[in-house]
Amino acid sequence: MGLFVECLDKPNHPKHFLVIPLVITLIIGFVSMFTILKYYLTNRTGRNNNLLSGTCSSPPVVPGLPLIGNLLQLKDEITHHTFANWAEIYGPIYSIKAGASNIVVLNSTDVAKEAMVTKFSFISKRKQTNAMNKLKNNIIITRDSNEYHKMARRHVVTHMLGAGAQRRHRAHRDIMIDNVVNGLNAHAKENPMDQPVNFRRILQTEIFGLALKQALGVDSVGSSKYIEGLGETLSRDEIFKVLVLDPLSGGAEVDWRDFFPYLRWVPNKSFEMHIGRMEIRRLEVMKTLIEEQQKRISSGQEINCYLDRLMLAEGKTLAKTHLTMLIWETILVGSETIVDTAEFAMYELARNLKYQDHLYREIQKVCGNNKYTEEQFSGVTYLSAVFHETLRRHPPFPVSPLRYVHEDTQLGGYDIPAGTEIAINLYGCNMDKRQWDSPEEWKPDRFLDSKYDPNDLYKTMSFGGGKRVCPGALQGLSITCTAIARCIQDFKWSLKPGREEEDINTATLTSQKLNPLLVIVTPRDY
Ligand code: HEM
Repeated sequence: MGLFVECLDKPNHPKHFLVIPLVITLIIGFVSMFTILKYYLTNRTGRNNNLLSGTCSSPPVVPGLPLIGNLLQLKDEITHHTFANWAEIYGPIYSIKAGASNIVVLNSTDVAKEAMVTKFSFISKRKQTNAMNKLKNNIIITRDSNEYHKMARRHVVTHMLGAGAQRRHRAHRDIMIDNVVNGLNAHAKENPMDQPVNFRRILQTEIFGLALKQALGVDSVGSSKYIEGLGETLSRDEIFKVLVLDPLSGGAEVDWRDFFPYLRWVPNKSFEMHIGRMEIRRLEVMKTLIEEQQKRISSGQEINCYLDRLMLAEGKTLAKTHLTMLIWETILVGSETIVDTAEFAMYELARNLKYQDHLYREIQKVCGNNKYTEEQFSGVTYLSAVFHETLRRHPPFPVSPLRYVHEDTQLGGYDIPAGTEIAINLYGCNMDKRQWDSPEEWKPDRFLDSKYDPNDLYKTMSFGGGKRVCPGALQGLSITCTAIARCIQDFKWSLKPGREEEDINTATLTSQKLNPLLVIVTPRDY
């Protein structure tokens, strides 16, 4: 979640206050005075005194500045790291202020589960940022829990992500994994042995192809495509950018008005134009891709994919814009989360040869000279340990999409009033020292402990929880684990010297390696 990150460096930075009219400056002056007064009164008479007297009913407050609250402390920092550091000082639940927004941050599995499961009915709404509204993100992940959300979630599970649907899409996954391994083999053959390969590039294009096939029936993008509404031919990379990369960075874009809703009426032209342009391009690309397939469906040619099934089930009742959004969401979320996880897993295995060898030996014991396949997953215990440890240490969504308290409730024993936003720091839960031994270390062996149920997909908080838990967990597991197993079975992995350090990019809605993994792959003989 890049919600706060770099907020003051963006074009829509409050420094643009310099150019807004005098009247706004005056309003800000009044608001500041009011906020300063309120801040001092609260600190003198409210929460801190309550804390000291032991009658506290509000979570501890991270001190910030009047008016802007904690925004400056979050600038230039990786938000989920800062949240986890504050948890060490203020405890697993505390509150911060981002401008006018009150946000309660949760950093332990217990309190996160309380919010996601036990108290769900009080916290079932999502917080919509201006960027999300502008991107018309009428998609499952950003919707409040209501009838539309229920209907959309049911369809994506039944037709794409549930166990039955996943079985039907098996052939696509097998082809995709073969293509990844072939890509690595081609690199190894055509280049000197110490020439590193950009693993993300190979994986990303293949997973994008898989997402298109599952959603639309075919990967019709090829190497380029003419987009009629734009009057342009876009390359595959450009289409990936329009459908996946731009919305991920755009959704994380900070509009300062999110933090100062009373100034919502002030125009922020650069932000609106930037997001608006992204939206037009995305809609035009989706229109071309969907209309092509609708022609196929009208000609009586059916394919077992999400679009065909959704058209059959809801085609007459679902507005075209909703249909487009639901199809697009699977391409968006399905493409990046898996790439991020698989890339971090291969990075950790490449720099921890002891764990890589362990995994390789176990794969060989189970598969011998045969290719690893999904059926062998339960036999290779260490693969599951590598997967869960990667998700624990590098959750693709380090902070789950913001939720909104719509009815007064309690969390972790504290009163939480309606109107509060809830940030669940999944990274913080996964790094909680009270739950995990040496949490900063990437150590798959921790999941070999018999206390873990081998079939439990939710050993960490990385898929979220409760009614909004990720419905793509099974697909995430099957693709990531098969990709890891085949990559380790066929190649020895090592890092390009000097690339051992961890680097993280959180300027998008997901957290990924800042620089693509450049890795030396040496084919194994087996
Ligand atoms: C390793 C891979 C993945 C991880 C770690 C992951 C993680 C998450 C997380 C943390 C959430 C938010 C949960 C919450 O709010 O509590 C989420 C929601 C969601 N994910 Fe995933 N995800 C992964 C893969 C996928 C895939 C492959 C798809 C589908 C193509 C998918 C589709 C969704 C959808 C539709 C939601 C919204 C659910 C709702 O709000 O009801 N995810 N995911």
